[in-house]
Amino acid sequence: MPLRGPWAILALLLSPTVLLGTVAQPRLVPRHATVVDRQTVNSNYTFIIAGGGIAGLTLADRLTEDSSVTVLVLEAGPFDQGQDGILIPGAFAPYLYFWPNLVTVPQVGLNDRSFPAICAQVVGGGSTINAMVFLRGATVDYDGWESLGNPRHSWDDLFPYFLKSENFTRPSASFAKAGNISWDEAVRAHKGPVKYSYPNYFYPGSANWWNAAKSVGLEPVKDPNAPNSKNGIFWFPTVLDVPSMTRSYARRNHYDKVITSRPNYHVLASNTVSKILFRNKQAIGVSYLPTAGGTASSVYASKEVILAAGGLHTPQILQLSGIGPKKLLEKLSIPVVADLPGVGQNLQDQPTLEVPYNFSANVIPNPGTFLTNATYNAEQRAFYDAHQPSAYSIIATLSTNIARVSLQQATAAYKQMVAQARARNPADSLPTDVDATVLEGYKAQRKLILQQFESGSAAIGNLHWGTADSALIYLLKPLSRGSVNINSTDPLAPVVIDYRTATDPADLQVYTALFRKNRQIFAARNMQVLGPTEASPFGAQLTTDAQIATVMRNQVNPSNSHQCCTAAMMPRKLGGVVSSEHEVYGVKGLRVADISFWPTEVSGAPTATMYASAELLADMIKKEYCLDDYC
Ligand SMILES: Cc1cc2nc3c(=O)[nH]c(=O)nc-3n(C[C@H](O)[C@H](O)[C@H](O)COP(=O)(O)OP(=O)(O)OC[C@H]3O[C@@H](n4cnc5c(N)ncnc54)[C@H](O)[C@@H]3O)c2cc1C
Ligand SMILES: *[C@@H]1O[C@H](CO)[C@@H](O)[C@H](O)[C@H]1NC(C)=O
Ligand SMILES: *[C@@H]1O[C@H](CO)[C@@H](O)[C@H](O)[C@H]1NC(C)=O
Ligand SMILES: *[C@@H]1O[C@H](CO)[C@@H](O)[C@H](O)[C@H]1NC(C)=O
Ligand SMILES: *[C@@H]1O[C@H](CO)[C@@H](O)[C@H](O)[C@H]1NC(C)=O
Ligand SMILES: *[C@@H]1O[C@H](CO)[C@@H](O)[C@H](O)[C@H]1NC(C)=O
Ligand SMILES: *[C@@H]1O[C@H](CO)[C@@H](O)[C@H](O)[C@H]1NC(C)=O
Repeated sequence: MPLRGPWAILALLLSPTVLLGTVAQPRLVPRHATVVDRQTVNSNYTFIIAGGGIAGLTLADRLTEDSSVTVLVLEAGPFDQGQDGILIPGAFAPYLYFWPNLVTVPQVGLNDRSFPAICAQVVGGGSTINAMVFLRGATVDYDGWESLGNPRHSWDDLFPYFLKSENFTRPSASFAKAGNISWDEAVRAHKGPVKYSYPNYFYPGSANWWNAAKSVGLEPVKDPNAPNSKNGIFWFPTVLDVPSMTRSYARRNHYDKVITSRPNYHVLASNTVSKILFRNKQAIGVSYLPTAGGTASSVYASKEVILAAGGLHTPQILQLSGIGPKKLLEKLSIPVVADLPGVGQNLQDQPTLEVPYNFSANVIPNPGTFLTNATYNAEQRAFYDAHQPSAYSIIATLSTNIARVSLQQATAAYKQMVAQARARNPADSLPTDVDATVLEGYKAQRKLILQQFESGSAAIGNLHWGTADSALIYLLKPLSRGSVNINSTDPLAPVVIDYRTATDPADLQVYTALFRKNRQIFAARNMQVLGPTEASPFGAQLTTDAQIATVMRNQVNPSNSHQCCTAAMMPRKLGGVVSSEHEVYGVKGLRVADISFWPTEVSGAPTATMYASAELLADMIKKEYCLDDYC
């Protein structure tokens, strides 16, 4: 979910606190201390994981279940300090632990505007600082991944791992009934580490929105996380640890939970992996340095190095290590270990758009009341601290329900839109110097996504109203493709990020259809009683698609911090970087675990899929090495 402008800028100015270290001295594995520093880190581990986010900590937890295995997680950011802004949904601001100094290049599809690029730099990665929304993708999203040449990643393959990862806490029956919360017990599990539930409070305006959405044909969905779920309206689950109603995040559910029993699980925080070390194309370790700058050290892996640095930084580590587009590596005089043109390409995100409204008769309380009325806010905080229903159980500025919309639901003109997109030469949507294999991969993805658009089987967008002064519209399945590349051999230099948002004309057409669907909801009787007026720079004066799209180019934000797909799992002839077992092509002993491996965005939010796919990968690795109970 998006970050409001001023906070995003402010957070960019905050640099994470990092510890200066000195050169590592080899030692024996300490018996209980699992946080290591540069003095106590060992020189050899079974597995080294670069990046301690969702994928990194999930894998480290599962691999160290076998006591013969040792794992080192190297994480660029520090441990969080349990701040309210991390733990308490309603205190979700100011935002903490953003990766510093990341800015996009001017976006040609968005009137040459540049944007801060937001991702996490903290133990737990995105799960420590994200908006807590916990939604799987659609069945066809994962089946589509499989059809791109990836056995083992269909819905049926991932489903047991969604269940393994999670622990759902039911809301009370009376609250669920009053709020219209529904779910399907058959698709939710209660034994896994990631806790999730629903806020225990809702703003009254959310009922107006719900009823208005229903009246324009968006039906209540029983469970958005069910296989072949319909699209429509529902409460979105969030990663809440009941009864404290605090954040359930990877640091807590895959690290704190096991620290007393896992002397073989080490985390070295505030250190950045700079390079993978190879011997004859076999990954044998990594070099790393303090994130604050300082001396480089090396650490070795007897089995594998696993990259889990997220969608913007796994490609950086690969390219710094000589794995990537040959032309780029040669330009920077980096010796080529494997020429993989797909590394850093195929960048996708889920753009966001805020549509402001004025109301003559909005209902209170709403998130505006929460921010401006200190009495109400203090009252809600007291309820929260007493474990009573409270607005503090809701992520600040959001509401509790949302619409997931297919292209068919958004517009009657969906067939023409798909036909027009099919008629386009896919090469026109990529930079002119694109590698031939990367283009082939894009063609395959485009074909797949347009089938999903036409059949209505996947959602193309979300519509949300926080119940205060703006609606939010998310574009879930863009056809535009961007890139993230290094521009320097300095591992601490920022990567060059170009989302290329809205460079494919279909994306703004789809976005315009979503915008019109949002207008329909606001025009329905149940919203009209609140007296909404679409405000500047939008407004009733914009009537044609072209007029709306023109304003959009100046308003769309390219990112929802769901950056993915930059080391895609696809065959090499499709520009893929990793196999369906997540092994990097052309080398040995190296895998990618994080969201970079996704071929395409899914019609959900990333967290649920990242926990599940890391569980799946952990099992693949355990089987391969006969770890734990596998042999
Ligand atoms: C502000 C924000 C809001 C979001 N809201 C939601 C939401 O509501 N719902 C949802 O599902 N998703 C949301 N997301 C997205 C989601 O959190 C991410 O997609 C997800 O965390 C990706 O998991 P990952 O394991 O691939 O990488 P991450 O969790 O991002 O972890 C990568 C880790 O690697 C570390 N790292 C990077 N480079 C190096 C290096 N060279 N050496 C060592 N460590 C390195 C980083 O510091 C980071 O901790 C949000 C993300 C953000 C940032
Ligand atoms: C650690 O790994 C390095 C590189 O493979 C090797 O030279 C060294 O002997 C190993 N040390 C131990 C204690 O296993
Ligand atoms: C699942 O969550 C509930 C509620 O927090 C908790 O009581 C229960 O112990 C959890 N189950 C497991 C297996 O962790
Ligand atoms: C729940 O649904 C009922 C029936 O459609 C409706 O009357 C009520 O206003 C809704 N409430 C909320 C909070 O969505
Ligand atoms: C502020 O909140 C308090 C407590 O809920 C309420 O009594 C009061 O009317 C609110 N004030 C305004 C201006 O909305
Ligand atoms: C890349 O680096 C060069 C030299 O440091 C700099 O001049 C240029 O602006 C950078 N390009 C981008 C897109 O950041
Ligand atoms: C909305 O409210 C703002 C601030 O009160 C005002 O400046 C603006 O003119 C209003 N816009 C519309 C369309 O009513």
